[in-house]
Amino acid sequence: MFRPFRLLLVVGARPNFMKMAPIIHELKRDPDTFAWRLVHTGQHYDAAMSEIFFEQLGMPKPDVDLGVGSGSHAQQTAAVMAAFEAQVLEWQPDIVVVVGDVNSTLACALVASKLHVAVAHVEAGLRSFDRSMPEEINRMLTDQVSDLLFTTEASAEDNLRREGVDASKIHFTGNVMIDTLLAHSAEARRRGVAGKLNLTPGQYGVLTLHRPSNVDDPDAFERLFDAIGRIAADLPIVFPVHPRTRPAIERSAGVAPLIAHGRLKLFDPLGYLDFLGLMADSAVVLTDSGGIQEETTVLGVPCLTMRETTERPVTITDGTNLLVGTDPGRILEGWARVKRGTGREAQVPPLWDGRAAQRIVQVVRSYAEAAAGSPAADPRGPVAAGT
Ligand code: UD1
Repeated sequence: MFRPFRLLLVVGARPNFMKMAPIIHELKRDPDTFAWRLVHTGQHYDAAMSEIFFEQLGMPKPDVDLGVGSGSHAQQTAAVMAAFEAQVLEWQPDIVVVVGDVNSTLACALVASKLHVAVAHVEAGLRSFDRSMPEEINRMLTDQVSDLLFTTEASAEDNLRREGVDASKIHFTGNVMIDTLLAHSAEARRRGVAGKLNLTPGQYGVLTLHRPSNVDDPDAFERLFDAIGRIAADLPIVFPVHPRTRPAIERSAGVAPLIAHGRLKLFDPLGYLDFLGLMADSAVVLTDSGGIQEETTVLGVPCLTMRETTERPVTITDGTNLLVGTDPGRILEGWARVKRGTGREAQVPPLWDGRAAQRIVQVVRSYAEAAAGSPAADPRGPVAAGT
């Protein structure tokens, strides 16, 4: 008798939600072929970091919330693994789908792989070549245990091939985060959030900061604000603050005067639509995020990335991204370049066209059909509790 192909979909932290949303929308279109369950690990748990994204992206409520919360890397990863293992054993999926590079991504990929369940990794192959970033470890190890690797840009396939991943597992399907952006950008702009904050479109900057290397070390944070303060003299800067960054702001000497002079406006984390609208109408985005480098590229907004490396090189070669590092002098040089105009038209990278999820689901469909045709698809045997 025909049995739908069972997918266990994993989200954990804020940047995962906009990547999974278009995949869910696509799976819903074919209920005869696919049965799926959505697991939220609870890595991000504040309403502003999680719930609002489900509402705004039209995502179903998670079927299961593992509620793991914060902790050291080992504690958080281990808590996700223990709780997720029970889910896999209970629901017996045919494949576990993970996105991005957060601790939840690696934890769930490892669990699935050890239970002999196939793993699909969406946004595979990105490499910063900086192993001090926790995300780099998560990316490399997740890719090593994945059976289907969906890539967003050409560099990713090169990286995976160099690491010995078989070419037949790699599928260049495009960028699901951009599927979500394109689906929501008109709605985001209609909200007119800049105007509501008394900002003039095209005459303000947006700042985000949350990388441990930038916010956990007070000296590094202060140096960034040397440069940010000078840019704020040219145009007001809006700063939605990630929870991890709050303590750094409280102990900083450089931030308070900027707020007092009205040059820096702090907010709690914004919802997806308001943040997208703010970015779309801004003159420049300053960030240390991964995904924002991609979103600004598609919006055509200049982005100054305050990191030494990027795992998303296509945003530099094709897009609007300038990798300015964390030295104040270089950040200000980047800002001077933005003010002059970079002198070239930015391009939207190949396959960042709003149809990545459609391609991913098509590959999964073919995989499901092949698996249905060969009952012993995994030579290691079926999942069993306690093995
Ligand atoms: C995580 C990801 C990072 C991603 C970022 C996006 C890892 C290793 N890092 O970093 O790749 O870019 O999410 O936001 O997986 N906190 C709250 N409320 C929340 C969540 C976190 O207050 O809902 C605070 C807690 O103090 C916590 C800290 O933020 O200790 C860090 O959270 P954590 O999930 O460990 O990492 P992020 O810095 O958010």
